[in-house]
Amino acid sequence: MKILVTGGTGYIGSHTVVELQNAGHDVVVVDNLSNSNEISLKRVAKITGKDVEFHRIDIRDFDSLDELIGKNHFDCCIHFAGLKAVGESVSKPLDYYDNNICGTVALLRALNKHNCKNIIFSSSACVYGNPEIIPISEQCPKGACTNPYGQTKHFIEEIMTDLHKSDPDWNIVLLRYFNPIGAHQSGMIGEDPNGVPNNLMPYITQVAIGKRAELSVFGNDYDTHDGTGVRDYIHVVDLARGHVCALRAITDKCGLEIFNLGTGHGYSVLDVVHAFENANGVKIPYSLKPRRAGDVPVCYADSSKAQRVLGWHAEFNLEDMCRDSWNWQKNNPNGYSK
Ligand code: NAD
Ligand code: WQD
Repeated sequence: MKILVTGGTGYIGSHTVVELQNAGHDVVVVDNLSNSNEISLKRVAKITGKDVEFHRIDIRDFDSLDELIGKNHFDCCIHFAGLKAVGESVSKPLDYYDNNICGTVALLRALNKHNCKNIIFSSSACVYGNPEIIPISEQCPKGACTNPYGQTKHFIEEIMTDLHKSDPDWNIVLLRYFNPIGAHQSGMIGEDPNGVPNNLMPYITQVAIGKRAELSVFGNDYDTHDGTGVRDYIHVVDLARGHVCALRAITDKCGLEIFNLGTGHGYSVLDVVHAFENANGVKIPYSLKPRRAGDVPVCYADSSKAQRVLGWHAEFNLEDMCRDSWNWQKNNPNGYSK
């Protein structure tokens, strides 16, 4: 298939481009490089042996999308492009609503105009808010998102649902990711956060490499086995392969479908710290701090629907994730910017 990948130079996008190319698909990437580096696609080409066509386009720019999509016959779009920093979204809500929602609407309009009515969207477990039932299945009611970033995922899901209701020719797969970590086994592509990382694993790897003195563990008084927050960490390569499997649903003309992509295992912050230390033989100094505002105590997936319908399940374990995250960080102490 010929696939348009928005946000394809970013963390999850670049890993997905590898898996798409390995599965024999033709890929065209658009990205405005607001949170990524084009070098990632050069690395992808080294891994797969195939160049990746790239266009520097902001997805809010309807005319550029119109021209690109009009010139190509895309079978499907995989839509990763978006801003994703939870804390920043609280201080700059309009930037997030403009970028993520207006960008998605412009993209949908351009795809619709050229009759490409197949899309896979990067949603997030954050749409469940503080989940009512654990493990979280797709039937779990959506909860109140505690930040504008999460709201954009919720609103985009609603927009896409309305679009499908208005025109059942659309096939739309909403993938709700849990916590992606890890990196490609080659150590050539990985997560390259700007500034101080917000997320746990990039913070740990920056402590391991000596960029940060210690990890702050946010909260040790949750109702969990060791008091620290529990999440469903998923290897980014497993997540990327989930998109290739989701193309099957598109080919089967699925209409609107929602899938959780997680491992089904919940690990605490201290479980991750210890797994990282054991996998890599590196000590991670940490100190216990108060809870972080907006965090939920426990979040992990029931991904049995993805297994049943898409034939997908996560293959890598926490040790693999820790090993590959460290391999990427060690080989690229400053990410893509040498
Ligand atoms: P990322 O920042 O590495 O990738 C997103 C890419 O989108 C970047 O390359 C960025 O430059 C690009 N982009 C942003 N706004 C754009 C615009 N207006 N036009 C064109 N390109 C634009 O993030 P990621 O971790 O790879 O996340 C990919 C998607 O998955 C995002 O939509 C994110 O919200 C979603 N998601 C991520 C996680 C996570 O923990 N990483 C979890 C759930 C969902
Ligand atoms: C994991 C655990 C923290 C950093 C976020 C978004 C979510 C999704 C994935 C995009 C929590 C603890 C963290 C640190 C810590 N992204 N932690 N010290 O919050 O589960 O999810 O990323 O859609 O929407 O909210 O991930 O990696 O930030 O935190 O103790 O320095 O690690 O409190 O328990 P989170 P995270």
